[in-house]
Amino acid sequence: MAERKKARKKKEEPKMLAEIAWEVCNQVGGIYTVIRSKAPVMVDQWGKDYVLVGPKIHPNVSSDFEEHMDDKIPIAQVVREMKEMGWDVSFGTWLVSGRPQTVLLNPASVMPQLGNIKYFYWQDHHIDFNNHDPLVDEVMAFGFMVKEFLFRMARVCLEQDVELLAHFHEWMAGTAIADIRKEQIPIKTVFTTHATLLGRYLAMNDPYFYDHLPFLNWESEANNFNVNTIARLERACAHGANILSTVSEVTAKECIHLLGRSPEAIVPNGLNIERFSVLHEVQNLHHKYKEQINHFVMGHFFQSYTFDLNNVIYFFTSGRFEFKNKGYDLTLEALARLNYKMKKHKINKTVVMFFITKQPFHSINQEVMTSRAVMEEIDHNCEEIMKQVKERLFQDAATNSDHRLPELNKLVDDYWKLRYRRTIQSWKTKRLPSVVTHNLINDADDQILNFLRGANLLNHETDKVKIVYHPDFISSTSPLFGMEYGQFVRGCHMGIFPSYYEPWGYTPVECLARGVSAVTSDLSGFGDYVKTLDIGDEEHGIYMIDRVNQDYHSAAEQLSEKMLAFVKTTGRERIASRNLAEDLSEEFDWKNLIKHYDHAYDLALEKYPIENK
Ligand code: G6P
Ligand code: GLC
Repeated sequence: MAERKKARKKKEEPKMLAEIAWEVCNQVGGIYTVIRSKAPVMVDQWGKDYVLVGPKIHPNVSSDFEEHMDDKIPIAQVVREMKEMGWDVSFGTWLVSGRPQTVLLNPASVMPQLGNIKYFYWQDHHIDFNNHDPLVDEVMAFGFMVKEFLFRMARVCLEQDVELLAHFHEWMAGTAIADIRKEQIPIKTVFTTHATLLGRYLAMNDPYFYDHLPFLNWESEANNFNVNTIARLERACAHGANILSTVSEVTAKECIHLLGRSPEAIVPNGLNIERFSVLHEVQNLHHKYKEQINHFVMGHFFQSYTFDLNNVIYFFTSGRFEFKNKGYDLTLEALARLNYKMKKHKINKTVVMFFITKQPFHSINQEVMTSRAVMEEIDHNCEEIMKQVKERLFQDAATNSDHRLPELNKLVDDYWKLRYRRTIQSWKTKRLPSVVTHNLINDADDQILNFLRGANLLNHETDKVKIVYHPDFISSTSPLFGMEYGQFVRGCHMGIFPSYYEPWGYTPVECLARGVSAVTSDLSGFGDYVKTLDIGDEEHGIYMIDRVNQDYHSAAEQLSEKMLAFVKTTGRERIASRNLAEDLSEEFDWKNLIKHYDHAYDLALEKYPIENK
């Protein structure tokens, strides 16, 4: 509370904050969630002294953004100046919760000058751009425009005796930092890295990444991975900013060893947690969406064999396809062990595990589609038969004098009886339900599929653990589920995220916020943060896998044991943990975490007081 008050007080002092990110109005990954979910708290705290800056590149940008011009405010004046130079720059509102003021800069505006932009960058900061990379081009063009915007804002702020803070997220937004520093523009800068470029590459390729980290030479590694330019840009951001920050202690170590600077602030990621006023709503929604998942499962599996849907546990994982970094390898190994254990202990339950990720595919698997369509047809038949039975039964009730229930079979036309039988006959098959829902372009080399083949985890009838690998993200338009990702999560029982490399990792927090249990690891930023909170994790739905002090096989064993323990829980226990998980998620509300941002800003403001003020 004290912190909040302190934060509010800031509003009275003359300060202005520009927050710059590549993912403002442009969803690519987790930084979008950071910026978007944080917007209401920022606007609440900073009001009109807060502006977001992003690239105008997303095809749907116009539907999320409302342009307006209010010439009286300085930002709008600066934007107008830039427009007069012939650039495509917009000022308006990002139409998300909090409705933050936003400036969008279209990098295409300065593409004709890109040669000069890069030349001067090389001259001033010794970073060369020998290898052509279209992303770097766009980033450099955007960075140049950010610089032009901030230079002008700094001038206005100086005139009005207002201090300007600029907060950059990731190298893609931060290329202006080096120029601000070199030209000594009166702006206090904070740079937040959400991962390091080299860290991500190395973790994917080096099985002993964390052991080797303190001894790595960033430059030779950057050359090995052919990412020298970006690595240098990232370092220029990290070294040029007044304050370096990152999202977790885990990434802080990377900053020290790969960026060569120890971050002064850690800014953990939060969410905008919206609680229901009725406690039961979390349970009701779980029920509702689980029914929808049940429907998919019937369509996918029941063509070949059936199992009891009242005794099914739904596990899932989701994220970018980074097999090792996201811990898919460990998850698969643990599932194979779980399958063995459930069979051995004759556990009367079935686990269905969904892998929701993105891999190139040709199309949805035809058999999966057909099976689903035939199931819909059966559903339709049942509807028709029910309608017929209902109408006739009602007539019978009204007219019949002996008040006894007639034989219901007789109320159905032969046409429907036959159609019902034929459809079911045509549907049933001896084929095993496919483990993958789409035809992958690289089926033979796919790491998930190869594991499943090797472990013979191929949806045999006797398997207790079934697999559905959906190599596409879920949305309400995806034909197989027809639900939003958030709804899908609610319908599941547990999210499995035992990552090897994860600077923060939003997915488990999103589970908790929806009352769903989640597995995390102590190598992920979130897991590491949870360890510092004093909570009995498992009853709150957080299951921690120890990957710092354990080898791969011990971690897989630990994961399979935790899965098994979860499978054995009763419905009543899961209801209780659903409520506790949702309670706990409040810890991750921005209202509680924004203090870390305030701290970073305080540190930046303390640095090098501007002399001519
Ligand atoms: C909620 C749902 C119930 C469900 C119960 C246990 O209360 O509303 O329909 O039976 O959770 O659900 P689970 O899927 O964990 O067995
Ligand atoms: C990056 C990290 C991820 C984090 C996100 C937001 O994408 O890989 O762990 O959640 O940034 O900070």
